[in-house]
Amino acid sequence: MASLISSPLFNFLLISFSFLSFLLIRSHAFEGRRAIESHYHTVEISSLLPASVCSPSTKGHSKRPSTLKVFHRHGPCSKHSQDNATPSLDEILTHDQSRVDSIQHKINLNAEMDKVKDKKAALPVQSGRALGSGNYIVTLGLGTPKKSLSLIFDTGSDLTWTQCQPCARVCYKQQDPIFNPIASTTYSNVSCSSTRCSQLSTTTGNDPSCSTKTCVYGIQYGDQSFSIGFFSQDTLTISSSDLVPKFYFGCGQNNQGLFGNTAGLLGLGRDSLSFVSQTAQRYGKYFSYCLPSSSSSTGHLTFGKSGVSSNVKFTPFAASRGTSFYFIDIVGISVGMTQLSIRPSVFKTPGTIIDSGTVITRLPPAAYKALSTEFKKQMKKYPSVPAYSILDTCYDLSKYTTISIPKISFTFGGNVKVDLAPSGILIVINSSRVCLAFAANSDASDVGILGNVQQTTLEVVYDVAGGKLGFAPGGC
Ligand SMILES: *[C@@H]1O[C@H](CO)[C@@H](O)[C@H](O)[C@H]1NC(C)=O
Ligand SMILES: *[C@@H]1O[C@H](CO)[C@@H](O)[C@H](O)[C@H]1NC(C)=O
Repeated sequence: MASLISSPLFNFLLISFSFLSFLLIRSHAFEGRRAIESHYHTVEISSLLPASVCSPSTKGHSKRPSTLKVFHRHGPCSKHSQDNATPSLDEILTHDQSRVDSIQHKINLNAEMDKVKDKKAALPVQSGRALGSGNYIVTLGLGTPKKSLSLIFDTGSDLTWTQCQPCARVCYKQQDPIFNPIASTTYSNVSCSSTRCSQLSTTTGNDPSCSTKTCVYGIQYGDQSFSIGFFSQDTLTISSSDLVPKFYFGCGQNNQGLFGNTAGLLGLGRDSLSFVSQTAQRYGKYFSYCLPSSSSSTGHLTFGKSGVSSNVKFTPFAASRGTSFYFIDIVGISVGMTQLSIRPSVFKTPGTIIDSGTVITRLPPAAYKALSTEFKKQMKKYPSVPAYSILDTCYDLSKYTTISIPKISFTFGGNVKVDLAPSGILIVINSSRVCLAFAANSDASDVGILGNVQQTTLEVVYDVAGGKLGFAPGGC
């Protein structure tokens, strides 16, 4: 035996074996690390901060025929941010809560009305439609010759309107010259007797009125924002080769609220007067967008099917509960390698909408608790700091340049799993306060809302006619 141990052959075998097991252990460790890495994002803190100069997305959407560039309202890519009107993040989050309150109020009201429908109840006075303070804008043309207008685009409302001269009552300050109907050869007033005029009741929640035979609309949003004016038609220009004649919109004579320096709103809801419904023949109720990862980049809003990437995965829309919102089903959330344990009824009972104008995703309280608890567990190595506004899971990352954060993915109905981008997970107040970009609803019965922070960089595809919503990574 002793002779064997000291034999060169044995030594050779021993060394080979050690080397082999070293290789094996190494490759196991490597596999393990790769598995872990695939559940984490390595993020440079600086990449989460908006730059002071605009660097437009280089993804080529210009090949698509009906595409508009999307800007964040308050960033260097928007000419609307040049005066000092940019609100603080705290103000943005306060406005965001008002929007959420008014969306939830509207959906709850609809549920109440469904219960009393048989009694032919009169329309209750609505305390406000969803607030028009969405954060993304597009520029399109109106009238002949066309005038450029920058509008907030909003999947959470329906009526498209812009401020109009002569601003009989009040126009707030806007960047573009205010649209002048008299200067457009294709402009016309809509008469009180038209069916389109009567559709305003459901679109705006207010019955239209009449001014010397011209239909008058009025729409109010949460937070006392409103627009009142003549209901009108004119040519909308999406691109030089893509004109929408006789488009119905509000020509606002009395406008006030949180619309920043924009000229008004582009309504992308499901209602019969929304842009989506009015252009159904042309674009087949199909549109897609990508919201940029920061306010120093750009995205796109595209109408029609052509050019949509083939790796889009679709989840069916859920029933819209008598509203014009886009409902979807969340069936699960995972953080890193952990699938959160949340009862299906937590999402199913209140339902979820996707909204381009809500900033921070709102989850049912039980779902939010599971998410933040697991996130905290996996972020233990970073020092935590107190809550900021509606955000209660925050970290001081001032001593780091690069961090590792767990991936967060949502599974939607039809088993569609979507990984959020880092910009959809954390929101940076400053380097000493970086927060998980989610918040809880106060009541388990309030609708969940998939907000725009979580949608950033994703290609989000609304196939309204096909009854489904698609997601693909890397949209802009
Ligand atoms: C539209 O109707 C209003 C109210 O009747 C009127 O003041 C305005 O001149 C009309 N505009 C056009 C272009 O006909
Ligand atoms: C970061 O933001 C928090 C919350 O607004 C503030 O209290 C703190 O002073 C800020 N820190 C720095 C370094 O600016």
